[in-house]
Amino acid sequence: MIRAMGDFGDDRIELVDAGDGRRLERFGAVVVDRPAPAANFWQRDPEAWRAADLRFDPELGWSGRAGSDAGAISPWQVRIGDLTMELRPTSSGGLGLYPEHLANSLRLALDVAERGRATERPPAVLNLFAHTGVHTLTAARAGASVAHVDSARTVVAWARRNAELSGLADRPIRWLVDDAAAFVAREGRRGRRYDGIVLDPPSYGHGHGRGRGGRRWRLADELVALLEGCAAVLADDGFVLLTAHTTGIGGRELEESVGAAFPSVVRVEASPLQIVAGSGAALDLGWSVRVVAG
Ligand SMILES: C[S@@+](CC[C@H](N)C(=O)[O-])C[C@H]1O[C@@H](n2cnc3c(N)ncnc32)[C@H](O)[C@@H]1O
Repeated sequence: MIRAMGDFGDDRIELVDAGDGRRLERFGAVVVDRPAPAANFWQRDPEAWRAADLRFDPELGWSGRAGSDAGAISPWQVRIGDLTMELRPTSSGGLGLYPEHLANSLRLALDVAERGRATERPPAVLNLFAHTGVHTLTAARAGASVAHVDSARTVVAWARRNAELSGLADRPIRWLVDDAAAFVAREGRRGRRYDGIVLDPPSYGHGHGRGRGGRRWRLADELVALLEGCAAVLADDGFVLLTAHTTGIGGRELEESVGAAFPSVVRVEASPLQIVAGSGAALDLGWSVRVVAG
């Protein structure tokens, strides 16, 4: 659980309030009001919502508050510890950062450092569905070499820009525009092994080449095969961090899928992807499962 998300480096990133099907968040200089189906309760701090610089409605798109700096809806940057991420409103209501993952980033940095000490070499990390790269950059900063895989070319370019902004452009990161499951299967056939695997599969998605023969993706159908593919490329004593925003799959089900796919699991720890606002409102956004294999 992240209480109010707190300060990560120089910029404050926090859930200010949630309710009435929406979430109000601060991302550094910009306060954003977006839909949140999980916020099926009353807003606790209705006054706070007046501070929103940006608002997203699925039917209307983005709008900026008159007179606010964010009125032009242009990209802005946030500092998260040592990282700099560029945020910008996307057509689907995203911003290029899932604040609920930030607590996992801290855990990931510790796992990478621990694995590096144990093996006395830079750990190899595979980041699947890697989006704009907060986990890739966290692992690289902690000393890992990283394979960053996402099927959207524009999103991979965005992640590379975040690496440049964070001073990590020269780190050993492979930027791969590819279907996650297909990439894992190929790595298995090549005999590649990773010390750590991070994956944040969407509930629904698409593979590389959508509309031109690319595969459609549905987590509930694909999860077991994907995890089996990951098990085949995970080194002994490796770690896995699986997060899922889907409300269709619960923590128990994820734990069971992970337990079945990784026969040598030593520890499985499932915890809710939950963020709590300063106002006290809590948003349940999915599950996070950390696996340590033997
Ligand atoms: C839920 S977001 C990932 C969030 C990210 N882990 C973070 O913390 O910011 C899903 C990402 O998966 C990508 N994606 C969707 N289907 C994919 C597939 N079949 N293979 C690879 N990437 C895919 C999307 O382009 C998107 O960037």
